[in-house]
Amino acid sequence: MSDEKWKTAITDIGPGKIRVRGYNITDIMENLSYAEAVYLILKGERPGKAEAELMNAILVSSIDHGASPPSVLGARTVMSGGNSLNAAIAGGVLVIGDTHGGAIEQAAKIMQEWAQKDGDVVAIANDLVDWMKEHKKRMPGFGHRLHKVDPRTGKLFEIAERHGYGGRHIGLCRAIETALSEKTGRTLPINVDGAIAAVISDMGFDWRLGKGFFIISRLPGLLAHTYEEMTRERPMRTLGPPPYDYDGPEEREM
Ligand SMILES: CC(C)(COP(=O)(O)OP(=O)(O)OC[C@H]1O[C@@H](n2cnc3c(N)ncnc32)[C@H](O)[C@@H]1OP(=O)(O)O)[C@@H](O)C(=O)NCCC(=O)NCCS
Repeated sequence: MSDEKWKTAITDIGPGKIRVRGYNITDIMENLSYAEAVYLILKGERPGKAEAELMNAILVSSIDHGASPPSVLGARTVMSGGNSLNAAIAGGVLVIGDTHGGAIEQAAKIMQEWAQKDGDVVAIANDLVDWMKEHKKRMPGFGHRLHKVDPRTGKLFEIAERHGYGGRHIGLCRAIETALSEKTGRTLPINVDGAIAAVISDMGFDWRLGKGFFIISRLPGLLAHTYEEMTRERPMRTLGPPPYDYDGPEEREM
């Protein structure tokens, strides 16, 4: 058996000592927002103002999307079946996959690979959509069951571009939307997964972290739904397709 010590570069702990990426946790608590701390732990360095605002916007963008997404139904169903809060949240997270939330991963992979090709993004997007069609694949990060225009996409790109982050991946993402429309005759808007994929790619994140951004963002939503199910609903009720009514606060100004 090797006596070589296991190594980690994330957090150094000892009695009375917790240093995340070298910074004392108490200093992080005092000086960084949650989004900034997430950036620090994933990237290893503190974000600048631009990265901090973008990370915050990403984490807020997917915090919840009503009671119908599969992960919420998953969490509520596990809760309704008479299980613990942690089992319900885990159930919800397990539902997140390549077509729900997890499309960030595959979209970022494709964008990162194709953005490396020579040429302008419009030509690359056209080739990519032709390739997807030829292989009978859907382009992850595009299309939405409810939104003709996903309001989160425009806001994310606006914040990115305000900070000089309108890079090659965002450009490619926009070009893919146009190519999809021209080549399929359908309006397949960039959804929040596609937008996050483009933004994190421009920020230099590895596509393999993709699903993680959605999980971190959606966790508070899953918790709220699980808690509501636990405290407001009857056990083992019929959950799923029938439409539900919203009875929370009406629209209000921020
Ligand atoms: C999100 C999604 C499931 C919504 O689908 P929908 O609006 O219910 O549409 P349907 O699944 O009924 O598909 C309708 C048609 O559009 C096509 N289509 C839908 N999304 C497509 C995409 N991203 N790329 C290419 N074609 C797409 C389908 O192939 C289908 O074509 P067909 O009628 O010739 O078979 C779908 O757009 C999708 O699979 N997107 C990719 C995954 C993704 O980004 N998920 C994150 C969602 S936030």
